[in-house]
Amino acid sequence: MNSKIRMGMIGGGKNAFIGAVHRIAANIDGQIELVCGALSSNPETAKESGELLFLAEDRNYGTYQEMIEKESLLPAEIRMHFVTIVTPNFAHFAPAMMALENGFHVVIDKPISLTLDEAKQLRDKVLETGLTLCLTYTYSGYPLVKQARQMVKDGAFGKIRKVLVEYPQGWLSLPSERDGNKQSAWRTDPSKSGISGCMGDIGTHAAQLAEYISGLEITKICADLNIVVDGRPLDDDGNVLLKFNNGANGVLVASQIAAGEENALKIKVYGEKGSLEWHQEEPNTLKVKWLEAPTQLYRAGQGYLTPSAQFNARTPAGHPEGYLEAFANIYRNFALTLRSKLDGKTPTPEMLDFPGVEEGVRGMAFIENVVASGLSDQKWFDFKI
Ligand SMILES: NC(=O)c1ccc[n+]([C@@H]2O[C@H](COP(=O)([O-])OP(=O)(O)OC[C@H]3O[C@@H](n4cnc5c(N)ncnc54)[C@H](O)[C@@H]3O)[C@@H](O)[C@H]2O)c1
Repeated sequence: MNSKIRMGMIGGGKNAFIGAVHRIAANIDGQIELVCGALSSNPETAKESGELLFLAEDRNYGTYQEMIEKESLLPAEIRMHFVTIVTPNFAHFAPAMMALENGFHVVIDKPISLTLDEAKQLRDKVLETGLTLCLTYTYSGYPLVKQARQMVKDGAFGKIRKVLVEYPQGWLSLPSERDGNKQSAWRTDPSKSGISGCMGDIGTHAAQLAEYISGLEITKICADLNIVVDGRPLDDDGNVLLKFNNGANGVLVASQIAAGEENALKIKVYGEKGSLEWHQEEPNTLKVKWLEAPTQLYRAGQGYLTPSAQFNARTPAGHPEGYLEAFANIYRNFALTLRSKLDGKTPTPEMLDFPGVEEGVRGMAFIENVVASGLSDQKWFDFKI
């Protein structure tokens, strides 16, 4: 196949947040082109948004149903290859299922759906159709997160004993949902966000990062969820004790009322021989501490990094890479996988290094288990899927 991979977008119209980030990320490597969209829940706004992006008039759709139906009828060399879904959580499942049922691959933002049951239905459909579903857990796309994961995998730290992950944000410290802030309005509304607020929105990122770097799976939890801003129906803060499948323990803290914090995701992983520490707001440095040797600083762009870190880096050392490039790594790996499949080849493990439907199911299980644990007096809860 010697052309770009064709993307259609659902959501991400004017004034939306993450859709624009997806478009930038999809564009960075020149592998993907946006050919159509149904960019808003309001058909008029959808069309206006598509005009601003110079979408062809006949592929600037009013609804996602129309988009999937009409794209399915186009010749194979013209129609989109995949759909990116960047709507609020309640509007993930229906377009994702419709896309898969009509033969389109899917990129979807986290959490994958509104409920665990929906996530499992998507997993079944992906398995049945053989199509690819990519889930944009952004933080696993950073080069030094790849480095951290590889060092743990190679046994550099010995057996992992403890994982501390914290994700404090401050942007929901005030009830901005009552002052017309659209992003906070749907995130604090259970019918649109799901059964959790903060833990669903950012706790899932923290849990995915902890499992991705450590290579472990959460098996038990003990959660304390809080509603700090009066009148909110969903948690805006919480703390979770964790047990992992190798016996390691951990703590996950997520908060959206941590006044003054921006997006301060941090992780520390402790093994028998040493530990690592990575901060999302300082993503080009990985701190590695040894029990019996001086601390080291690994830096993005350096030749000493593992092949997986180098494969996911673009700029020379000292030239900062960040959020958009990490996002682009997920798109690039997904696009390489699709291209390889479309050419009848088998994608390499490096290409397949992006989150998918299994991570989606685990993310929804995390939400449902954490909420159940938070409501219960029982100390430890088995992590059920
Ligand atoms: N990966 C990340 O780091 C990250 C960051 C932010 C948000 N997100 C996720 O992205 C999703 C969107 O969040 P956001 O903050 O961009 O929301 P947003 O409110 O800014 O934008 C949502 C967009 O979806 C559109 N929409 C809603 N229903 C639709 C439908 N049926 N058809 C077409 N368009 C529809 C809205 O009109 C709007 O354009 C959420 O699931 C959120 O959890 C992920």
